[in-house]
Amino acid sequence: MQTRPIGILDSGLGGLSVLREIQALLPGESLHYVGDSAWCPYGPKPVAQIRERVFAITDHLLSLGAKLIVVACNSATIAAVESLRAAYPIPFTGMEPAVKPAAALTRSGVVGVLATEASLAGEKYLRLVNSHAASLRLITRPCPEFVELVEAGILDGPEAEAAVACHLEPLLHEGADVIVLGCTHYPFLRPVMERFVGPDVAVIDTGAAVARQVRRRLEQDGLLAPEGNRPALRITTTGPLEVLERAVPVLCPGLAAELGRARGLD
Ligand code: DGL
Repeated sequence: MQTRPIGILDSGLGGLSVLREIQALLPGESLHYVGDSAWCPYGPKPVAQIRERVFAITDHLLSLGAKLIVVACNSATIAAVESLRAAYPIPFTGMEPAVKPAAALTRSGVVGVLATEASLAGEKYLRLVNSHAASLRLITRPCPEFVELVEAGILDGPEAEAAVACHLEPLLHEGADVIVLGCTHYPFLRPVMERFVGPDVAVIDTGAAVARQVRRRLEQDGLLAPEGNRPALRITTTGPLEVLERAVPVLCPGLAAELGRARGLD
């Protein structure tokens, strides 16, 4: 027996950092992922354009029977999650940079927030900072090179190390002791970042918390897959299939997923 899938979307392959957490927590659920790699990056694009893409992908996921959609992209969440909730009858789970946990963790009072321009420009980010981190010094920084590296499946080596050093060195210099990964692409570079910052600086993201939120919402709405569900795991892209075939085994080693092109979203 197979039930309706959870839909997961991102500007590209970054949302796979959230998919792997959902899959680990809810192994009985079918997952259908759409990476909008043909339109990646979203970060520097106008909000209206990001919203248009996210609505088109949502329609696609609904046509495949999605019972809940995870907007596994901070930029898309900022641009569209409220309009999605108003427009569609299914639940949506979005992303939020881990500013609140960072406020609880920091001792120096200086926190680095790495996120795209789109995520940092929104009202929502300001509200988050005002409610949880008004007394802290937050240093924000978009890291578009991280997105390019992850889309290319490059997670380590000299290129990744140089990009990490370029973005994290100024934060360490300012005394940051917590680094918030506010973009779903960035956790794939966490091992290189942790090596660079050393054990006294925490690098945090919200992938696992979002997976728990998805489980809570499915429980609440009586939407959990029944025992005995044969979960299907499908990862699709609006970009070239070869890129997906090359990158997925690097990003999610051992994940047995069916890979394909997302149709009708060009
Ligand atoms: N993964 C997306 C996010 O979480 C951003 C990458 C992009 O710029 O497309 O914001």
